[in-house]
Amino acid sequence: MTLAPLPYRIGYGEDAHRLSAGRSLVLGGVTVPAERGAVAHSDGDVILHALSDALLAGVAAGDIGQYFPDTDAAWKDLDSAQILTRALDVTRERGYTLAQLSLVVTLDQPRLGPLRAEIAAHVAALCGLAPGEVGLSFKTSERLAPDHVQARVTVLLLPEADHE
Ligand code: C5P
Ligand code: MG
Repeated sequence: MTLAPLPYRIGYGEDAHRLSAGRSLVLGGVTVPAERGAVAHSDGDVILHALSDALLAGVAAGDIGQYFPDTDAAWKDLDSAQILTRALDVTRERGYTLAQLSLVVTLDQPRLGPLRAEIAAHVAALCGLAPGEVGLSFKTSERLAPDHVQARVTVLLLPEADHE
């Protein structure tokens, strides 16, 4: 599909997983010390899944389920960095590059504030961005959803030629 030559594009994505004992909690590629982790076919990294969907949405390229079906045994326990790499490639193939992103994680426990710099730096490195281009906020659900972890992400995409 040919995209309109816009000065920039935005993308939005979100993902949620149920929490369960005996699973790891991986957020932005960082394993967080926690009593419960995400129940998922892959590693359940809601940040990287939401970010990948935001990138694909930004260039109208569908969603990660089309590229990595969760019914396919080949993708079981997949490292989500591979999903992100594919989404970044598709974004570039469509003529855009990721310039900045804004992330919100909703989780009641544990507190994530102490890990903010580490998670932001890891996400930035996976995307080839400076840490200052990754905004990361945390929210509790006010105990409305104590058994789930959710991420919501907005991305700013610039035409590849303009972004150096
Ligand atoms: O309850 P509320 O969502 O208003 O809490 C927001 C504050 O708690 C923010 O400062 C946020 O960074 C922090 N927080 C946290 N870890 C969480 C959820 C919220 O550090 N899992
Ligand atoms: Mg609040």
